[in-house]
Amino acid sequence: MHHFARRDGVLHAEAVDLERLAALVGTPFYCYSAATLRRHVGVFRAAFGDLDPLVAYSVKANSNLAVLSLMREEGAGADVVSGGELRRALEAGVPAGKIVFSGVGKTREEMAAALDAGIFQFNVESENELSALGEVARAKGAIAPVAFRINPDVSAGGHAKISTGKAEDKFGVPWTRAREIYARAAETDGVRIQGVDVHIGSQIAALDPFERAFNRVAELVRTLRADGHEIETLDLGGGLGIPYGEPENAAGDPPHPDDYAGLIRRIAAPLGVRLIFEPGRLIVGNAGVLVSRVLYVKEGEAKKFLIVDAAMNDLIRPALYDAYHAVAPVRDCGGAPQPYDIVGPICETSDSFARARDLPPVNEGDLVAFMSAGAYGAVQASQYNTRPLIPEVLADKDRFAIIRRRPSIDEMLDCERNPVWSKA
Ligand code: LLP
Repeated sequence: MHHFARRDGVLHAEAVDLERLAALVGTPFYCYSAATLRRHVGVFRAAFGDLDPLVAYSVKANSNLAVLSLMREEGAGADVVSGGELRRALEAGVPAGKIVFSGVGKTREEMAAALDAGIFQFNVESENELSALGEVARAKGAIAPVAFRINPDVSAGGHAKISTGKAEDKFGVPWTRAREIYARAAETDGVRIQGVDVHIGSQIAALDPFERAFNRVAELVRTLRADGHEIETLDLGGGLGIPYGEPENAAGDPPHPDDYAGLIRRIAAPLGVRLIFEPGRLIVGNAGVLVSRVLYVKEGEAKKFLIVDAAMNDLIRPALYDAYHAVAPVRDCGGAPQPYDIVGPICETSDSFARARDLPPVNEGDLVAFMSAGAYGAVQASQYNTRPLIPEVLADKDRFAIIRRRPSIDEMLDCERNPVWSKA
């Protein structure tokens, strides 16, 4: 559920008129709904009730400082995967004691920064990473709290580019070698084993893969405890999918958080561990839209193109993952729907948002909204074709705030120089 709806035919973000917003901030831009963000954190947390997990919002999904501050206000922690994300989470006031650090390639500098901050948990993804973390911690006289990310060798369905839990994926340590790896970690100075971690992929639309992976790690928790390790935390990652409104989605919408929580209650609650979750898309995906203006309506030989002012550099998901985003005219003037190919101005055929999408008649100058664009939208944007990163706006009831401004081209060029040579 989200808070983007029509009032008098015009799409609003809560009570903010997107047509008026477009006139004020210029297109294209992202707009997020604060009420939707709050609601999603609330629904997710409520699903677990008295299990009272640490909800560590996955910063990579949308890392805007204002979004992170709102998450912090709602009591969420943060799942970070880089020193930059750690800095953002701390800057937004997320308590270090609610931050977990994931990722296969943490640098020693990043480890040091996280130790200095005093984060809750390092999710370690290899034995060599553990050695490095132990060294960095020892040099500081610190102890790093660790969980190993277990690769449970489970196929999560969905798009191959966002599956992470198969044996051939780069993530985690093989579940078959976990006992040996924990035994070694117990001998390593500078680290303290505190838990087990798993994350199998993203936009997962069925409970099945979760069930297989979670059963595997629950079993592992029991085995590790029998081996003498104190396993206090179980991080079950993120990955629960959201409805994108695909008409062709025969399998139906992804499970509700209540059903996901029911599964976890059954499998993990008996372990008596502190549960951690790292939801990203579930919280922000349907809390954001990308608003774009139609530059040209072009009559091709076989089809009609809408050339809009947003492009693959602003929202890369359709080009990269063949992702479906529903498209809504911001002002619905009615009329019989007709098929349009909706494309951006970038000089690549892959700069396409939708093919043969049925929309009521659209004219040049009209606004369209790409729905469900709050997750992995702005964060994956680039400046390709020297297009400035676009503004992000937060709507809250009838108010709005620009939470990221559009940089000028001058600012974009400012980091670049003609060579002033030095010898290495
Ligand atoms: N935890 C870890 C360790 C992750 O790698 C991810 C996502 C999450 C949590 C959050 O997963 P979520 O709840 O958002 O599914 N760019 C792709 C998605 C990549 C997901 C990467 N990892 C997309 O646009 O679909």
